[in-house]
Amino acid sequence: MAASEWTVPPPVVGENGAREELEQLEVDLLLEAVYRRYGFDFREYAPASLKRRLWRRLTAEGLTTVTQLQDRLLHDEGAMERLLLDLSINVTSMFRDPSFYVAFRENVVPMLRTYPFTRVWCAGCSTGEEVYSLAILLHEEGLYERTRIYATDINAQVLNTALAGVFPLEKMKQYTQNYIRAGGKGEFSEYYVAAYDGARFSRSLTKNVVFAQHNLVSDHTFNQFNAILCRNVLIYFDKTLQDRVHGLFHESLEMFGVLGLGHKESVAFSPYSDSYEVIDAAERIYRRVK
Ligand SMILES: C[S@@+](CC[C@H](N)C(=O)[O-])C[C@H]1O[C@@H](n2cnc3c(N)ncnc32)[C@H](O)[C@@H]1O
Repeated sequence: MAASEWTVPPPVVGENGAREELEQLEVDLLLEAVYRRYGFDFREYAPASLKRRLWRRLTAEGLTTVTQLQDRLLHDEGAMERLLLDLSINVTSMFRDPSFYVAFRENVVPMLRTYPFTRVWCAGCSTGEEVYSLAILLHEEGLYERTRIYATDINAQVLNTALAGVFPLEKMKQYTQNYIRAGGKGEFSEYYVAAYDGARFSRSLTKNVVFAQHNLVSDHTFNQFNAILCRNVLIYFDKTLQDRVHGLFHESLEMFGVLGLGHKESVAFSPYSDSYEVIDAAERIYRRVK
């Protein structure tokens, strides 16, 4: 039989469809390669935003195909670090969604008060603005001294910024407004000093904070918590991955522990929806009851 008779027929889909399929295959292979080489698992991240970010990195590296990017990533750890920054979407701010902090003060703080000591996990804390906000709130409620905050993120670079606690001075105006709207009880400016490199936040706010690298996709639970805040992280995961992370949170929460998610995230429709009661539906605050 002539070799040509073995040729695989072209896909029946149109030219564009075939190109898209091939591109998807390249993306899948790249994600698999990244996972096997570095252990970072982006295989179940929401595809549209993932592809946009891959293309941005590809262009920034001066490359033209996903396969070239895969090759670069496999051989150049620096390129992997740059991609990690692109993929991990670190946008954050202090007292982000002030209404969330109002609800936390009103509904969660009284529960935390009932414990002699509490552990709070801030998962996906990015550059730490959320952690400093939480520390300020707990300080003003007289709870900081008996709380330990575990602040984690997949990205070591953002954790270094969080640890340094220096944020752009020009953001302080907006953060002061957020703080006031979040029910702040003091003067926001008391918590930082203006230094040449930015607004340097008081060291006392991190004395009870442990910063650590932790990957929600592949790492296990590491403690039992009275509250977990994981805001604006699950939104980047697909449903399968979200469900897995919900499993991790359920396992990591003490009975009657509180879970606080971002405004576009929910425990509803997850396999754990029955394990929680809603404390504040709009603010996505839940309490583990099973
Ligand atoms: C948009 S930021 C949210 C920061 C903060 N929680 C907030 O609401 O302002 C998302 C953070 O999730 C982190 N992240 C993404 N995938 C992660 C994973 N698999 N494990 C842990 N953190 C992850 C990113 O590095 C990023 O810092």
